[in-house]
Amino acid sequence: MSHAETDSDHTRRDFLYVATAAAGAVTVGAMVWPLIDQMNPSADVLALASIEVDVGSIEPGTEIKVMWRGKPVFIRRRTEEEIEAARAVALSDLPDQNAENANKPGADAADQNRTLDAAGEWLVMVGVCTHLGCVPLGDGSGEFNGWFCPCHGSHYDIAGRIRKGPAPRNLEVPQAAFLDDTTIRLG
Ligand code: FES
Repeated sequence: MSHAETDSDHTRRDFLYVATAAAGAVTVGAMVWPLIDQMNPSADVLALASIEVDVGSIEPGTEIKVMWRGKPVFIRRRTEEEIEAARAVALSDLPDQNAENANKPGADAADQNRTLDAAGEWLVMVGVCTHLGCVPLGDGSGEFNGWFCPCHGSHYDIAGRIRKGPAPRNLEVPQAAFLDDTTIRLG
């Protein structure tokens, strides 16, 4: 093998090595980018992070269900009788004595700590049973005239507090606030 041929072979091998390494780098870069890109919330996810709900047409004693962040949220406008009944319950009768209210971290489960307004008319809760995640039935269902989860028999009262059955916690109150008299913002 001549000296010239050896140089040529080296040059060719070096070129092939560099070309392969560069292709490898491009491939890795192409794989990493979509992963990083997926970690940024997309525009539609950001839009759902907070929603506004018009509650102007909800009559006392009725409720609506809206979808928020992929979960049902119950919004109930309670009657005077329902408020009285909820406020008459002693804390010691509650299996879960935490308000489970994102707007009042650490508060106890007194009815006043569960509702969105001080008068207790508006109750906003994530409609997901705290046992295994079924959607409870509303409109005064169950033995405590609130919500009832038929999956395994969990009874919630008219403040959404667990009273009987396997569910360990009160229905969660999500981050929420009144923007004006008839608009509630979730999130
Ligand atoms: S999921 Fe509701 S009682 Fe089991």
